[in-house]
Order: sequence, then structure tokens, then C-alpha cells
Amino acid sequence: MKNDIERVLFSKQELAEKTVELGKQLTEDYQDKNPLVVGILKGAMPFLSDLVKEMDIYLEMDFMDVSSYGNGTVSSGEVKIVKDLNTNVEGRDLLLVEDIIDSGRTLNYLIDMFKYRKARSVKIVTLLDKPEGRVVDIKADYVGFLVPNEFVVGYGLDYAERYRNLPYIGVLKPEIYEEK
Ligand code: PRP
Ligand code: MN
Ligand code: MG
Repeated sequence: MKNDIERVLFSKQELAEKTVELGKQLTEDYQDKNPLVVGILKGAMPFLSDLVKEMDIYLEMDFMDVSSYGNGTVSSGEVKIVKDLNTNVEGRDLLLVEDIIDSGRTLNYLIDMFKYRKARSVKIVTLLDKPEGRVVDIKADYVGFLVPNEFVVGYGLDYAERYRNLPYIGVLKPEIYEEK
């Protein structure tokens, strides 16, 4: 599996350091707010898992499964709710956790939906931000790293559902795409 990676963009250690930094900031900003931390499955799962362990506050967690990519490498532009939250968000401070923002469509859709559901506040923490991919104007409140306009995998990010379990973020060898 690791043999499919051409180069590592962010090592396990760099990811860990960034997660600690973001966790400290969120601990300050969400003191006494009892935020609802919303993981956007499946990509956000490894990042969320590490991030919440660095947040020294009371919080709740819930998950939504939203899909926009299917099995390809290019966003289809459609957002589909596969699994909704179990929690009523009215009056709550929401912290949406993403692995990456690309076109911005997924978060644009979710932010509108949570405002409609009367959340008190909706903020975004994303591990990766790919500004060149943007189709709708969405900005994250907390960003781990900016990434170039390349297809990246690992630490939650998949190619055809694979590589989510890589401990780092990397770029695939071109022949991996050509095989498909
Ligand atoms: C990916 C990623 C983000 C979204 C970003 O999820 O995890 O959720 O796409 O793209 P966008 O800004 O263009 O909307 P995907 O839909 O592939 O589902 P997954 O997390 O289950 O892989
Ligand atoms: Mn996702
Ligand atoms: Mg995906």
C-alpha cells in the first residue's frame, strides 16, 4: 500500500504537531461553549479522532456522512446526505471538521443547512485547504495546511476508498490512476 505513494507531503509528525496546535487554539476559543463537534465522514475521521484528544474542554461529537466525489478524483458537484446527525443543533455552537476543502460545495451546503436548522454558530476546521479548487466562496476558520492543486491521499483522504489509513498525506504514483 505505501509503495503506491510517490512522495509524502505531510509526515505523521507534522500532522501530529499541527493537530496539537489547532487543538490548543480550539481549547481557548471553545471554553464553556460545549460545542458540537461534527465530523464529516468518511474523510474527517482520522483527523477528528486526533484533534478532539487535544481539546481540553467539554464537547459533544456527532457525525454526518456526506458524499460529493464518488469514486473519481474530480468533484461531481453533487452533495448527498448519506447519514444525518442524531443531534438537534438548534442553539448549539457547531464545529465542522473536514479533512479537505476543495470546491467548497460540501461545506457550503452544510453551512446553509445548519443555519436553517438554527445553529447558534457554525465554524469550520479543516486539515487541508486547496484554494485553487474553489468553486463556491467558502473560507475555513481554522486551517492546518494549504495544498497545491494535486490529488492527495492519506490520513482520511481516499482514492477509490483506498489509502484512508495511511499515517501521512501524500501524492500517488501516476500509474495508480492509470490502472483504473
Ligand atoms: C471529500 C472530502 C470533503 C469534500 C471536499 O469527501 O473529504 O468532504 O470531498 O470537497 P469539496 O470542497 O469539493 O466539496 P468525499 O465526498 O470524497 O467523501 P469521503 O470523505 O467519504 O471520501
Ligand atoms: Mn469528505
Ligand atoms: Mg472521498
